[in-house]
Amino acid sequence: MFEELSTLGTKMLKKAFGGGDVKVLWTSPKEIAHGDATTTVALELSKKLGTKPRAIAEVLAKELSHHSSIEKVEIAGAGYVNVWLKPSALITELHRSRAACTARVPKKTARPVIVEYSQPNIAKPLGVHHLLSTVIGQAIANLHEHAGQNVIRWNYLGDWGTQFGKLAVALEKWGKGKKPRDFAIDELLALYVKFHDEAEKDPTLEDQARKTFRALEQGDPHLRNFREDIVAVTKGSLGALYGRLHVNFDLDLGESFYEDKMDAILEEGKRKEVFETGEGGALIVRFPEETGMPPYMVQKSDGATLYSTRDLAQMRYRIDTYNPEGIYIVTDIAQKLHFEQLMETCRMLGWKLPDFENVLVGRMRFADKKMSTRKGNILKLEEVLDEAVRRADTIIADRGDSIQTDDPKELSEMMGIGAVVYGILSQNRKMDLVFDWDKMLSFEGNSAPYLQYTHARAKSVLRKSDQQDFSFPKEIKALTEKERVVIGTLLQFQSVLDDALETHMPHKLANFLYQLSQDYNAFYNGEPILQADQAEERALRLALTSLTATVLKTGAELLTLRVPERM
Ligand code: ARG
Repeated sequence: MFEELSTLGTKMLKKAFGGGDVKVLWTSPKEIAHGDATTTVALELSKKLGTKPRAIAEVLAKELSHHSSIEKVEIAGAGYVNVWLKPSALITELHRSRAACTARVPKKTARPVIVEYSQPNIAKPLGVHHLLSTVIGQAIANLHEHAGQNVIRWNYLGDWGTQFGKLAVALEKWGKGKKPRDFAIDELLALYVKFHDEAEKDPTLEDQARKTFRALEQGDPHLRNFREDIVAVTKGSLGALYGRLHVNFDLDLGESFYEDKMDAILEEGKRKEVFETGEGGALIVRFPEETGMPPYMVQKSDGATLYSTRDLAQMRYRIDTYNPEGIYIVTDIAQKLHFEQLMETCRMLGWKLPDFENVLVGRMRFADKKMSTRKGNILKLEEVLDEAVRRADTIIADRGDSIQTDDPKELSEMMGIGAVVYGILSQNRKMDLVFDWDKMLSFEGNSAPYLQYTHARAKSVLRKSDQQDFSFPKEIKALTEKERVVIGTLLQFQSVLDDALETHMPHKLANFLYQLSQDYNAFYNGEPILQADQAEERALRLALTSLTATVLKTGAELLTLRVPERM
């Protein structure tokens, strides 16, 4: 409809005012008093033509008012054109929002997009700070997939580096002869921490660790097995957590996978004179002055490779193997410079690159002082999730009969984990995140429980209707203001999905779901649904309830959340 109005408006203005590249774009007004769609084209065109904006707006308004789908046109302010659609035209428009609830099927031949996220470092439990990249990445991958792209979800595990040397030394010294595979991930972490404590007193430990890692790099079979065991233990514990978070991957090829792929890159760089010898024989890349970037080391003076070398090999491998349309890597802002240097190096090597973005996420801070000042390294994600579920449990118990559920355990898991995840996804990812239990678990604000509750409420209305079919009635004469508001919000679903995908900003979807929940609740509290006076009204309200529930569920699941049928 809006497209049709755009084409129509554009044609009319061209006819009335001649050439120039006019384009009528419609947006949804923030306030219901400004109609269903508004355009600023008159203001823009007036600058180009030197004509008064009102004169242009009048031409447009007059022509549009004859259109069969339009109920009313008004000119507001200096020259805004506001349009009200006829109820039946609005309802017809809603089929787009319903269609937006179904994932598009990707074309088999389409080039894939690679979304890389989570990327924890092996042998350490997943810390709560890794949660940001994990859930934001999952949501972004979900958005790409929903839009019909072939998505490769990639967990680039940090399974290479001196930490293996440290761990091997620690296990030998304090591991009491236990086999690596028999350690729990927490015990491994404790040994890793012990290594650091002891190394402060005895610096030779660091040397031992470095030597051990060199031996691993050179292929020592015993150490290789050791590393594989540690990777297996870590993957096991990660799998359980990802499951609880509704996070999944197609590949978990980590840093170690590129071990035999770096030599070729080093050769290519030297041959193309992009890599030069720096201080002490290290290989570095120097960037043009105007980039303002410091040199990038790709090989140490002792011949050892680096994080940067593996990332170069990784880019090359992904391009050669998948010919992707895009590569999107979600990381902490601390890695910004690394990726800028990486991409500039790829360009200097003359590589043909896909669309690329280092999707940056902020840091996590804690409203609760106890959490941020906690001694002992990292706050474990598992503990945070368990705590969230415990708190959800208490809330459910406190609310007593006002909460209905067949399975309180399932509900508290859904609510607790949802609260943590939604707490992250509802905020602009570029900002630091303040982790606040009370806000996350609130039933009133922009929170997972609020969305979940709204969904359950809508489902409960549908159950009580004893109907199966919730299609919109054919004839609708009038709409109440609260119905119109819900419709107006529902109509934005597709464009919100597009926008969240394009900007890689899942919080735009979260905010939309919050808006829809508020609008639906206002409608629910303000208008009788099951007790509506006329059959047609009842059918319309049930149809709106059903579509709202479907949109909430679709949107929530894209954000990794689950919504209950009853609550
Ligand atoms: N494992 C790294 C870390 O935890 C992040 C990896 C980011 N991805 C990459 N391709 N470098 O710091």
